[in-house]
Amino acid sequence: MVTVSIIGVGARGGEAYGKYINECKEKYRIVALCDLNADKLEKYSAEFNIEKENCFLSEEEFFKEKRSDVLVIATLDQDHIRVALKAIKLGYAILLEKPVSDKVDELLMLQETAKQYGTTIIVCHVLRYTVAIRKIKELIDSKEIGDLVSFDDLEQVAYWHYAHSYVRGNWRNSENTTPMIMAKCCHDLDLMQYFAESKCESLSSIGSLKHFKKENKPEGGAERCLQCPHKDICAYSAKRIYIDAWKANGQPQAWPYTVLTDKEVTEAELLQKLETTRYGECVFNG
Ligand SMILES: NC(=O)c1ccc[n+]([C@@H]2O[C@H](COP(=O)([O-])OP(=O)(O)OC[C@H]3O[C@@H](n4cnc5c(N)ncnc54)[C@H](O)[C@@H]3O)[C@@H](O)[C@H]2O)c1
Repeated sequence: MVTVSIIGVGARGGEAYGKYINECKEKYRIVALCDLNADKLEKYSAEFNIEKENCFLSEEEFFKEKRSDVLVIATLDQDHIRVALKAIKLGYAILLEKPVSDKVDELLMLQETAKQYGTTIIVCHVLRYTVAIRKIKELIDSKEIGDLVSFDDLEQVAYWHYAHSYVRGNWRNSENTTPMIMAKCCHDLDLMQYFAESKCESLSSIGSLKHFKKENKPEGGAERCLQCPHKDICAYSAKRIYIDAWKANGQPQAWPYTVLTDKEVTEAELLQKLETTRYGECVFNG
């Protein structure tokens, strides 16, 4: 039986890994959780049946001692290195969310410290393990489709996903998080090297929130979508993305709707979040 702790029980740590690990009861037992958000901590401690004394609202408290064999680190991008260094020093085996860091010196320091402590770190380049990618790799390696000489790779971030994550959501400001080339495309960068079995030699990336500025706001547009005269026609309308699409999709308890609330996703709950959080703001507020 492998014991597991999770720091950052959000969309990844709670909904994805936490739920999955919790289902594999014959192999793993979740024994401790840490999150700065009391609602999330309460939700997942109840779901994973974790005792109160093993739930931590403070990173400092949590890292006072080693609490399990494995630590899942699913905090936001800018915290990965700091948290991973603490975990290495306590002797955890680590499942670390991507992107590890966009700074070479930090990556080298992490690698060096992990070597020094003999730590196993697995980075969540989860696409490698999907059925489609495993099949592509198999076809490339067997040369069944010939020699690999080049490939095109398109990360299809739909317009509403772009608005959800990169205009309204956690990754809206590259000063507080990693830029899109890391936040989204590090999977692609990983796969390219995985398929080619060689390392990247050069890379360039450009981009900005050029379109999402005040001057592109439709005439008469409001600060919040629910009050906006364009709410039923604007492609980025939060009403259309979170209410209409949620209904059309069969009212799922799933991403991206679960990002808006820690409670059960209902129309009333979504409407309340669109009134009060950045997910209800006009993408053209700038
Ligand atoms: N592997 C993938 O395919 C994949 C997909 C999406 C996101 N991610 C990555 O996963 C990470 C988490 O993303 P998410 O969508 O779950 O975000 P999220 O906001 O839903 O969850 C992050 C959680 O960490 C908590 N937190 C932040 N700082 C903390 C701290 N110091 N101590 C304890 N808890 C803290 C927050 O309160 C929140 O609950 C990000 O780095 C993101 O890039 C990976």
